[in-house]
Amino acid sequence: MAIWSAAVLALLAASSSAQTTNAPSNEHVWSSVAWVLHGERTPLWGPTVSPALTPLGAQQMFAQGSLLRDRYLREDPEEKDATFAPIEGIERNAIDNTQLSILTNADQHMVTSVQAFLQGLYPPILQAFSENSGGIEAARFANGSIVNYPLQGYQYPAFRTASVLDFESIWVGGHVGCTKYTESLLNFRADDVVATIYNNTKNFYQNLWVQVLHEVFPSSMANFANAYILYDYAQFRYTHNNSTRKNITADELAMMARFASTEQRNKNANLSVSGTSQGDMIRAVAGRTMAAKTLSFLRENIRLGGATNKINIAFTTLETFVAWFALSGLVTGEHMAEFKPLPEPGGMMVFELFSIGGRTDSYPELDNLWVRFLYRNGTDPGDQLTTYSLFNSTLGRLPFREFMSQVQSFDVSTIAEWCKLCDGVSLFCSDLKSRNSSPGLSSGRGAFIQPTVAGAIGAAVTLAVAGLLFFIAILLGVIRFHRTGSDTKACTGTLGGFKGAEKMSSDTDLAWARGGTRHERTGSWELRGKKGADVEGQEEGVSPSATGVTVRARDLTHPSKGMDDDAISIAGQEPVKPREF
Ligand SMILES: *[C@@H]1O[C@H](CO)[C@@H](O)[C@H](O)[C@H]1NC(C)=O
Ligand SMILES: *[C@@H]1O[C@H](CO)[C@@H](O)[C@H](O)[C@H]1NC(C)=O
Ligand SMILES: *[C@@H]1O[C@H](CO)[C@@H](O)[C@H](O)[C@H]1NC(C)=O
Ligand SMILES: *[C@@H]1O[C@H](CO)[C@@H](O)[C@H](O)[C@H]1NC(C)=O
Ligand SMILES: *[C@@H]1O[C@H](CO)[C@@H](O)[C@H](O)[C@H]1NC(C)=O
Ligand SMILES: *[C@@H]1O[C@H](CO)[C@@H](O)[C@H](O)[C@H]1NC(C)=O
Ligand SMILES: *[C@@H]1O[C@H](CO)[C@@H](O)[C@H](O)[C@H]1NC(C)=O
Ligand SMILES: *[C@@H]1O[C@H](CO)[C@@H](O)[C@H](O)[C@H]1NC(C)=O
Repeated sequence: MAIWSAAVLALLAASSSAQTTNAPSNEHVWSSVAWVLHGERTPLWGPTVSPALTPLGAQQMFAQGSLLRDRYLREDPEEKDATFAPIEGIERNAIDNTQLSILTNADQHMVTSVQAFLQGLYPPILQAFSENSGGIEAARFANGSIVNYPLQGYQYPAFRTASVLDFESIWVGGHVGCTKYTESLLNFRADDVVATIYNNTKNFYQNLWVQVLHEVFPSSMANFANAYILYDYAQFRYTHNNSTRKNITADELAMMARFASTEQRNKNANLSVSGTSQGDMIRAVAGRTMAAKTLSFLRENIRLGGATNKINIAFTTLETFVAWFALSGLVTGEHMAEFKPLPEPGGMMVFELFSIGGRTDSYPELDNLWVRFLYRNGTDPGDQLTTYSLFNSTLGRLPFREFMSQVQSFDVSTIAEWCKLCDGVSLFCSDLKSRNSSPGLSSGRGAFIQPTVAGAIGAAVTLAVAGLLFFIAILLGVIRFHRTGSDTKACTGTLGGFKGAEKMSSDTDLAWARGGTRHERTGSWELRGKKGADVEGQEEGVSPSATGVTVRARDLTHPSKGMDDDAISIAGQEPVKPREF
C-alpha cells in the first residue's frame, strides 16, 4: 500500500497537472479559508459521555495551526521556500481578531480543537500587541511600564461557536438537523450497491464484534451500515490499548477504514439521490452549505478591500469533507486515490485567494483574483499541503469569477434555502416561515444576503429565544437529575436525546455572552462611525458600507513597529471602497 502510494505520488509529481505547493514570488495572497477536521477525540460511541479531544488530538491541532502559521505568518520574508505564501497586511505576531473569522459548532471536542489550533497559529509572545486591540498604548501604564498578557503573552482568539439552534451552524454541518437528509438515509440499505457490500461484510463485522466491538455495541449494530462509527471505536482502541492488538490486526483495521469511507461516500456524496425535489443532491447538503460559506468568506475579503477575513477557519466533520470531494469533482477526478479515503484527524482543506503580479499596496481588480485549493489528509509530518485542481480543470487554479460561478451552481447559500431543502424543523426555520416576507432571507440570490447577514439575524433570534431556552434547560436539567448515567451514555452519538439537552444548557451561556459582546460592539461601532473611522469585524453582519470604510494606514513611527512588519505593506494604501459584483 505504502509503495503503491509512493508510486502514485511519483507519477503525480511528473504529470503536468500535479501542482507544487509554492506561491511564486509574483503571487500575493489576500485571503485564506481553511476547513479543518477536529483532532483525535474519544469515540462517538465509547467510554466517554460525549466525545472529548485527546492530548494527541490537541497535538494534531497545534501542529496544523503551526503549519498555517509557517505558510502565512512566517517572520522572515527573505527565507522563501515552497510552503511560504504570506498573506498581505496581516498581523504576523499579535493576533488581530478583526482580521480573522473563525467558526465552529458547539461540540466540546470541536471548541477545544479550535483553541489548540489557534495556539499553533498565534503562539504566546511577549511585547507584541496588535493595533486593533489598542496597540502598545493599551499595554503601557502612564509611568511607562508594560504589562503583558498572562502565560508569557498568551493570545486570545475570538471565535463563533454555533449550536444547532444557531443557524450559523448549517455552514459547518449542513446535514445536522436536516430532516430530508436523515430520511434519505433510511433508504440507505435499499440501494443495490450497498446491499451487496452489506451482505458481503456481514461475517467480517460479526467476527470483529466478538473480538473488539462487543463491549460497546450490540451485535445488531455490527454491520456495514454503521461502518464509520465502528471504525472510529476500533481505531481508538487500537491506538491506545495494547491488549486490543491481540484481537484485531492492522489489516483488519485498514479494511474497516476502507468500508467506512465507502459508507460515508454513499451517505454524503451520492449526488444522484434526491430529497423533496428531483436532483437536489440532498446527501451532499453538508458540502453545499460549506461551499456557500467558503464563497462568502472570500467575498467579504474582496468587498472590504482585504481589510477583514484574511484568515478564515471553519472546524467541521467528515461529512463536509466527503460531500465537497464529490461536488468539486475531486473524488471522480484523476486524483481519486487521494480523495476516496477519509481524511484523518486534523485533515485540512484550504482555499487561497490570490492575485498574480501587480501592486501589493492596493487591492487587485476582480479579474486578477484567483482561487487555489490545497489539501492535507492528516497531520503526519510526511503529509504535505498539496494543490489539487477543482471541477475537472487541470490548471491548479481558477479565476475567482469562475470559482464563484461553479460554486453557485450547487451551493446552498441562504438559511431559507436550507430550511426548504431540508424541511428543517429547527427553531430558526419555523421563525423564518412565520415571517417569510422579511427582506434578505428570500431564497433568491440577492446581492449580499449570504451567510454574514444571516449571522446578524441569527444573533437576534438567538437572543429572542434565549429566555425560552434557559427555561427549557432548567426543565431538562431537572429531568436529567433522575436519569441514570447509562441512559445518558446510550444517547451519545445520536442527535437529540440527552446529548441535545446538554448542548442546549451550555449554549444558553454562549448565547448570552455573545449577546453581551454584540451590544458593546454596536456601541463602539456608532462611535467609530462618527469619527468616520475604520473597519470592524464582519461576523455580525453589520454593513459597514454606510460609514465609508477606510483602511487606516498604520503609523510607522509607532513603538511596536519592530514587531509589526506588515505595517509597511499596508502603509500608503489608498482608502478602499466596498465593492459590488
Ligand atoms: C507603574 O504603575 C503600575 C500601576 O500603577 C505599577 O504597578 C508599577 O509598579 C509602576 N511601575 C514603576 C516602574 O513604577
Ligand atoms: C442480501 O441478503 C439478503 C438476505 O440474505 C437477501 O434477501 C438479499 O437479496 C441480498 N442482497 C444482495 C444484493 O445480495
Ligand atoms: C478478544 O477476543 C476474545 C475472543 O477471541 C474475547 O473473548 C475477548 O473478550 C476479546 N478481548 C477484548 C478486550 O475484547
Ligand atoms: C484495554 O482494554 C480492555 C478492554 O476494555 C481493558 O480491560 C484493559 O484494562 C485495557 N488496558 C489498558 C492498559 O487500559
Ligand atoms: C503490547 O503487547 C505485546 C504483545 O501483544 C507485547 O509484546 C508488548 O510488550 C506490549 N507492550 C506494552 C507497552 O505493554
Ligand atoms: C447512488 O444512489 C443511487 C440511487 O439510490 C444508486 O442507484 C447508486 O448505485 C448509488 N451510487 C453509488 C456509487 O452507490
Ligand atoms: C468531472 O468529470 C466527470 C467525468 O467526466 C463527470 O462525471 C463529473 O460530473 C465532472 N465533475 C464536475 C464537478 O464537473
Ligand atoms: C494521506 O496522504 C499520504 C500521502 O501524503 C498517504 O501516504 C496516506 O496513505 C494518506 N492517508 C489516507 C488515510 O489516505
